[in-house]
Order: sequence, then C-alpha cells, then structure tokens
Amino acid sequence: MKHQLKNLSVYQAGKTADELKAALGIEEEMMKLSSNENVYGPSPQVKVALKDAMNDPHEYPDSYGKALKTAIAAKYDVKEEAILLGAGLDEVIMMLSRAILKHGDEILTSENTFVQYQHHAIIEGCSIITAPLVNGKFDLTALAGKLTDKTALVWLCNPNNPTGHYFSSEELSAFLDQTGDVPVVLDEAYAEYVTAEDYPDSFALCDTYPNLIILRTFSKAYGLASLRVGYAISSDQWTDMWHRVKLPFNVTTLSLRAAEAALRDQQYLKSIRDRNAVERRRYFASPISAHLLPSQTNFVLVKTDEGKALNDHLLKFGIIARPTPAGIRITIGTAEQNTTVIKALEDYFASKKKG
Ligand SMILES: Cc1ncc(COP(=O)(O)O)c(C=O)c1O
Repeated sequence: MKHQLKNLSVYQAGKTADELKAALGIEEEMMKLSSNENVYGPSPQVKVALKDAMNDPHEYPDSYGKALKTAIAAKYDVKEEAILLGAGLDEVIMMLSRAILKHGDEILTSENTFVQYQHHAIIEGCSIITAPLVNGKFDLTALAGKLTDKTALVWLCNPNNPTGHYFSSEELSAFLDQTGDVPVVLDEAYAEYVTAEDYPDSFALCDTYPNLIILRTFSKAYGLASLRVGYAISSDQWTDMWHRVKLPFNVTTLSLRAAEAALRDQQYLKSIRDRNAVERRRYFASPISAHLLPSQTNFVLVKTDEGKALNDHLLKFGIIARPTPAGIRITIGTAEQNTTVIKALEDYFASKKKG
C-alpha cells in the first residue's frame, strides 16, 4: 500500500436526514441543508430526458460524450476537444491530479477550501503549500508569492467552498500573469449562482492563458448531484493528456442525457439563479448578517468559534447544516426553510448576547 494512504482520512459525507432523525430520536421532517444541493431540483426537461434514456441500459454509454460536449462547446464558445467529462467534478479533480502530479511535487492552494484538491495531492505523494483566506476569499497576492520551481499545480476555488466569497476578474488576471506554464485549475462549481458583475468571464481567458483549466459541474445550480456530471475545459493540447487517464465509460448514458437537457433549459437555470439571489439577500438583510461571510453561492457560512453548540442548536430546529473548520455552512433553501433558518440563527445569537 502507498504509505501516504495510512493516515489519510476517508471523506465524511454529511449524514442523511433519515440517519439524523434516527440518531436524535426526532419524528418531524428535517431540512437537509448540508451539501449545497439545488433545493428546487432540476429542470422538468431532465425527467423527460431520463425516461427516454431508460430504454437502452444494455448499451455502453458514448465514451466521448459527443452530444453533451457539442452543447457545452456551443454554449461557451470553446472547442469540443477542449472538454473533459467526469463523473462529477470529484472525478475530474482525481483525473487531473493523476495526470499532472508526480511524487515530490508541490501543489498550491488556500486554507479552508474544497478538500479534494489536497486529498489527491496526498495520494500522489505531493506537498501542500497554502495561504490563508482573506474574508473568505482566496488571497491571490499571497498565493503568487508562494509559487516555486516545485509548484506543479495550483487549485483556485471561485467562489470558494465552504466560505462563499469570490475574487474578481482583475484579481484573477493579475494572478495568472505570474503563473507562466504552471497549470492553474479554476474550480467554478458555483459559477451559475453568481450575480456579481466583476466575476471573471473565465472562458474568455483560455486563449490568453493556455495554462488555465476551468471546472464546472451539473451538481449544483443544474440540480443533478445524484447523476454525477462535471467537466474541465482547457487548452486542447492538455485535454489529450487527461483522456489518457479517463476511464473508458465514466459518465453514464442517463447522466449524459440529463446534463444535455439541463443545459438546454437556460430559462430554468436563470429562474434558479434568481430565486437563490432573492433568498440570499434575505440572509444579508437580516440581523444575523454580521455573522456571515459574503456569499455569491447557494450557501452561507456562519462565523463562529463554537461550531458544535451552533450546530446542535440548528438541529433542534430540524436544520442539518455542515460544520467546517471555517464555520457552519448552510445551504440557502426555499423561502420557507430560510425563514426557519434565519429565525434559528437570530435566536442563537440573541441568547449568546444575553448569556
Ligand atoms: C468547490 C467544489 N468543487 C467540486 C465539487 C464536487 O462536485 P461534483 O463532484 O458533485 O461535481 C464540489 C461539491 O460540493 C465543490 O463544492
């Protein structure tokens, strides 16, 4: 066994609502707001596509994913050959790590970001260099100062999970100007939720920065978390290399068809972004806003030094949140769910003030 696996922890998915109800002896329905899923579900077109795709389970999927790649390429005006499809971004992150990293390399990323970047770097025998977040966003100036000859891969998450804050187009270009040939992965899993005007138009940067690799997923705003479809877009000279590590049939026919249908229904996607933005504003207009980091995503991060106490308090209201080292992360839910969450948070911080 690789010695670095001995102390590597296994990914802990949040508990399901049923598991928590049983563990806590709760009868009422609980709100699962721990995994940043789309609480409204996918476009109705997805269900139609899934029904159609059910007819041929005996046939292998299209290994190349032609129809989906053509649709993505048309939407973002990129070359179809520049796209790598994976079983969710989790698999894409694994494939990129496997293809790029060699034992003894360094990866560069931030503290308190998506854990899979570090997880795969450890498996590949690499060192991890980090800089702290500033107010919940990547500190690109600090990261640029940590680039070395050994930096083999940079991981940026924008907006960042678990904090929700983002860096601007200007900040990104200033950073990329300093990276030379070092591959820079820009994970934009939550991009479809962003409403900030200075958020980078990353696809437009691909020609200027051939070292840039952009990640997007169908798991979040498109509402297909259980079907597992994510993709990387990069200069096509790289994609050829990614395809050498890809499993032949990594994305199923059902998943490909569902993703195509979801991508086609941009009106539905817009309605999701708009609804989420309205609900996000409610959090920041409420008295608890002082305890939140800025967010451009479908979650908020509540700053606290007493994560366990706050999490236990939320559970009493039937709210399943996600404790993280940066604070308690809560998915922005439906209007009704958010009313309960905001009330529970107000209660918590009011009682702390009194106490
Ligand atoms: C920043 C970020 N990247 C990647 C992923 C993985 O997404 P998926 O594998 O569902 O596409 C997530 C999931 O939460 C995420 O938050």
